[in-house]
Parts: sequence; C-alpha cells; structure tokens
Amino acid sequence: MSLVIKKENEKKIEKQAERQSGETAQKPNMVFVTLVSIVAALGGVLFGFDTAVISGALGFLGERFQLNQVQLGWAVSCFLIGCIAGSAISGVLSDRFGRKKVLIAAAFIFMVGTVASALPDTFTGYYIARMIGGLGIGITSALSPLYNAEIAPAKYRGRLVALNQLAIVTGIFLVYFVNLWITSFGDDAWDVSSAWRWMFGVGAVPGLLFLVLLFFVPESPRWLIKKGRPAEALPILIKIHGEQLAREEVLAIKEVSKQESGGSFRQLFMPGMRTALMVGVVLAALQQVTGINAVMYYAPVIFKETGMGANASLIQTIMVGFVNLVFTLLSLWLVDKVGRKVLLLIGSISMTVCLTVIGLAFQTGQTSGPIVLIFILLYVASFAISLGAVLWVILSEIFPAPIRGKAVAIGTMTHWVADYAVSQSFPPLLSTAGPAVTFWIFGFMALVTVIFTWRAIPETKGKSLEEIETMWAKK
Ligand code: BGC
Repeated sequence: MSLVIKKENEKKIEKQAERQSGETAQKPNMVFVTLVSIVAALGGVLFGFDTAVISGALGFLGERFQLNQVQLGWAVSCFLIGCIAGSAISGVLSDRFGRKKVLIAAAFIFMVGTVASALPDTFTGYYIARMIGGLGIGITSALSPLYNAEIAPAKYRGRLVALNQLAIVTGIFLVYFVNLWITSFGDDAWDVSSAWRWMFGVGAVPGLLFLVLLFFVPESPRWLIKKGRPAEALPILIKIHGEQLAREEVLAIKEVSKQESGGSFRQLFMPGMRTALMVGVVLAALQQVTGINAVMYYAPVIFKETGMGANASLIQTIMVGFVNLVFTLLSLWLVDKVGRKVLLLIGSISMTVCLTVIGLAFQTGQTSGPIVLIFILLYVASFAISLGAVLWVILSEIFPAPIRGKAVAIGTMTHWVADYAVSQSFPPLLSTAGPAVTFWIFGFMALVTVIFTWRAIPETKGKSLEEIETMWAKK
C-alpha cells in the first residue's frame, strides 16, 4: 500500500516539475508552422514543373524549330544552366537581404521566365527564356528547404523540410497529366504551333500562387537574430513555440551565433566546417550521379529501348511519377522516426540492387517481360524514400547559421551541376556504351552512396540546429 502512495507522490512531483519547466504547457504551434512551410515548399512545385514540362514539350519544340540532336539536348538542359547560376547566388543574396525577400524575387523571376518561354518565335528566344526561369528555380531550390529548416521545431524539422521534396514530386506528377491534357485541345499541327507554348505558360499559375502567398509568411527568425534583430524574431518564435520556449530559443540561437564570427567563405573551409561542407557536397552529387534524372527526363526513351510503343511508354512514365509520389509520402513519415541515416542506407542498398538487375536484364536481352519496369519502379521508390527527400533535409540542417546560406548554395549548386552532367551525357552514353553499362555505372555510384553514408553521414534526427552546430565544432 505504502508503495502505491509513494509512486503516486513521485508522479505528482514529476508532473509539477514538467509544468515548471514549461515542457507540457508549451507545444509548438504546428498548424502555423505547417502552413508557413507549405507556402515555402510551393517553390518545390515550380522545381517539379520545370523538371517535367520538357518531357511533354520536347517533341513539338523539335518540329517547330527544326532542331538537331545536339539542339534537342540543349533544349532539355538549358534551364539547368539557369538553375546552377540561381543556386550559386542564392546564398550571398539571402544572407544579405533575408530569405523571404529573395524567395519573392525568385518567384517573380520564374514567372517572367515561364511566360517568356511560351512566346518566342526563335530557338534562341526559347532557351534564353528557359534560362531565366531556371534562375528562379535555382534560387528557390536552395532557399525553400533552408527556410523551412530555419522555421521548424527540431522534432519535426525533417518532415517539414521534406515537404519540399513532396512538392517537387507533386509538381512532376501533375505536369505529366497537364501536358497530356493540353495536347487534347488540338490536332498535330496545333501541338507543334501552340501546345508547347501552353505547357510552359501554365507554369504562371503555380508561380503566381507562390508569389502572392510568400507575402504572408514571416521572415526566418534565425536569419533575423543572426542579423542582430532579435526583437523582430521574438514574436515569430512566440507564435511557433509559445512565450517561454521562444525566449530560450532566442538565447540559444544568439549564443551559437556569438561563437562564430563573420560567415565568410574562408570560414567554410575551417576544420569541422570543412567536414560538413564535404558531406553536403558529396551527397548532393551522389543524389544525381545515381541516375534519377536519367529516369525522370528520359523515362519514355528508356521504356522504348525495351521495345514498347509510345503510348505504353507514356503510361509507364505516369506510373513512375505515381510511385515517386507515394514513396516520398512514406519518407516524410519516416524521416523523423527512423532518422536520415537509416533511410539513406536502406534506399541506397536497394538502388544498387535494382540498377544491377536492370543492367543485367538489358545485358541478357530479357527486356520484353515486366522485369525492367518492375525494377525501375522499385529503384524510383528506393530513391524517393532516401536520397530524394533526405538530401534536402541534410543540406538544410548540417551547416552553422553564419555560413548556412552560402553552404546550402554550394551544395545545391553541386546538385545542379551533377544533374546537368548526367542529363547531357545520358543519351550519348546510352547509344555508345549501351543501356546495360549505363545502368551499371549508376549502380556503382549507388554502392559508393552506401559506403559514404555508412562512413560519413552523422544522424541529425531530433537535434536542434544549434546542437548540430556544436557537434561539428567538436569534430
Ligand atoms: C531531385 C531532382 C529529381 C527529383 C525526382 C529531387 O530531389 O533533386 O533532381 O528530379 O528529386 O523526384
């Protein structure tokens, strides 16, 4: 009996202590944080739009401007040049002017680019417009996840940043359908003269939505504190965490900022920081050189290699989009539960197996059955639960505040450069080395990802951004 009373008393004391420390009284305002994160993640829809729109427009562009093979490759990849430039300048600009203002500028630039891509009567006009749109995408691809990481409570940060990836794959999936729908409005001649214009022009709808909604989100509180404006940051943090935790956050963020001076490029290469930068840059390159965009941009081409007709290959492309979407949702659910490292390991092991099997199927000529399709879908699923979402989560959280903007920019830029390299070299590789060797090269890169993840990636699940900063400082 006395034991029961003792236990009850202990429970009472524990509850009282919790109340005093404010832990039970103050839960983060997830409705507010999620809404704000969704707005920022809309940048990902534009990213997905630009990734997928070309798959529908390419054939018509080719006919309209009488493009040769090299020009066709350029028609696909020219926007990536804009993305590289946009991500490169995103860090310096957003560290200086703030995340929100630069996101607004990027949305505007995207709008100009996408509308201008719909209007030209020359190929030169087309690719200049695409590069302008790409500039906007490059900026948002770095800033949307960064903004979400800076606004999120530690416990849900993975999920909120991964919303960006969900937006990307939703964008890709929707565009596959919109492209198909647009072609239903006219005959072949209309497709060549006008359908592609609508495909690009339609981007103005999500672009405008993103632009308008951005005016309603707050500036990143972490950026404000770094800029010595804690008074402006406090009300935003109070909205997220409640009064007491917000004050503690301000102090923690200030403390970490105090320990680091400057935020110069030189600081990026200081011991500790160097390792964080290496992790971000290598993972960004690996996300691309394991071949995902060979599938995203060229899925119909790959399926045609298996001997299938144009229509069937289009349907299978839509299946790829669907699997990508479903497994990204799964990743969102898992990233804060099982952690970044476990997801990366499982996904990259599975990608290695799938790519090896696809290569084998081509090598042995067993491509008429469903094996290639099944393993491509499995490969996309494995990418979606791992490298797809987790790259953006890791990039947005591993760098210390003073260099975060620049370091995220370098990682994101590496991703775009690697994307450009893969998408330019895939068609010639396919025709010279053949599909088996091409997929084995990607498979080898997936194996490198397994080893790199195992040896170099730290687990950051549940840690606050400030705890992660301290972790690097100890290395
Ligand atoms: C990658 C894109 C890719 C997309 C596919 C993103 O994380 O950065 O290059 O097209 O995933 O879902």
